[in-house]
Amino acid sequence: MTTRLPSRPRFATVLLLLTVLVLASACSWVGWDWDTPMSTVMPKSDFGKMTHEIFMLISWWTLGIFILVEGALLYCCWRFRDRPGAPIPKQIHGNTPLEVSWTIAFAVILLIFVIPTIRVIFKTQEAPASTALRVEVVGRQWWWEFRYPGLRITTANELHLPVGQTVAFHLNAPDVIHSFWIPQLGGKRDVVPHRVNQLVMTPDTPGEYPGQCAEYCGMSHANMRFRVVVHPKGEFEQWVKAQQAPPVEPTDALAQQGKTLFAQSACVGCHAISGVSAGVLGPNLNHFGSRKMFAAGLMATTAENLTKWIENPAHMKPGALMPNLGMKGEQSKALAAYLLSLK
Ligand code: CUA
Repeated sequence: MTTRLPSRPRFATVLLLLTVLVLASACSWVGWDWDTPMSTVMPKSDFGKMTHEIFMLISWWTLGIFILVEGALLYCCWRFRDRPGAPIPKQIHGNTPLEVSWTIAFAVILLIFVIPTIRVIFKTQEAPASTALRVEVVGRQWWWEFRYPGLRITTANELHLPVGQTVAFHLNAPDVIHSFWIPQLGGKRDVVPHRVNQLVMTPDTPGEYPGQCAEYCGMSHANMRFRVVVHPKGEFEQWVKAQQAPPVEPTDALAQQGKTLFAQSACVGCHAISGVSAGVLGPNLNHFGSRKMFAAGLMATTAENLTKWIENPAHMKPGALMPNLGMKGEQSKALAAYLLSLK
């Protein structure tokens, strides 16, 4: 007499299905735009769209294969299950026609993936047109420098681009390997010391997109973020004009005091401000006050955050190379007021 397992309680199956339903409903497709800004499934550039198409092609095919294989498995489990008194089934070993056909079928499926993948790899590695906007991206521990050599602009942690214009990013790192990634536009592409990598794309939708270093690069790797603003037609030129203009003289007394303090302290050794200093180790601070975030996207540019940052950078951002210069009270407030005045 054979002993049989007791059938599982039905409520366990229902519970499992409900759990799956709840977990699956956590992924909403509508709303990717705003509640999941690091998503790659709603691409906003030609580069993003090309790579996304390959991702979807592979996803649909593998979903089909999954359903076929799991379906066959479940069917066989049910169809050939043990029954009381059933004889031992016929024992078989191998089936050449079947094995040859699924080997060929999978080789064909791989070819379906490989051909468009290679095409996109070559397409995204093409030399940019001479009309492309050249942006030099420098990945540093732990912030981003963006230089527009044709426009004579250097900025940090905030990248501005015109919609519909091809951009050629030239990526380089003076310290360790980083990776340049704007999930909604494209990347990731490694930023490697002693070589210049290239990434070419054309953003097609105005908006603000977060960027992130995607290669572990040390203590504050997670704090190596940046903000990308894709401007509608005409607006980019305004930004360029504002950035090319020299920073305005501070008008209020506290900010003026901050300017004097800045010019007399060690700040000038690392930071550049037109007409004041020419340091290159830290972010260029021309028009610092026009940037929404600072310290590589860590904090909003407010007087309060800035004062805290000046007083103890390493506390705000672990491993930050900016030293604590012992600025306190009125001094840090004055410096913050000066930096905020640099619109
Ligand atoms: Cu730079 Cu991670």
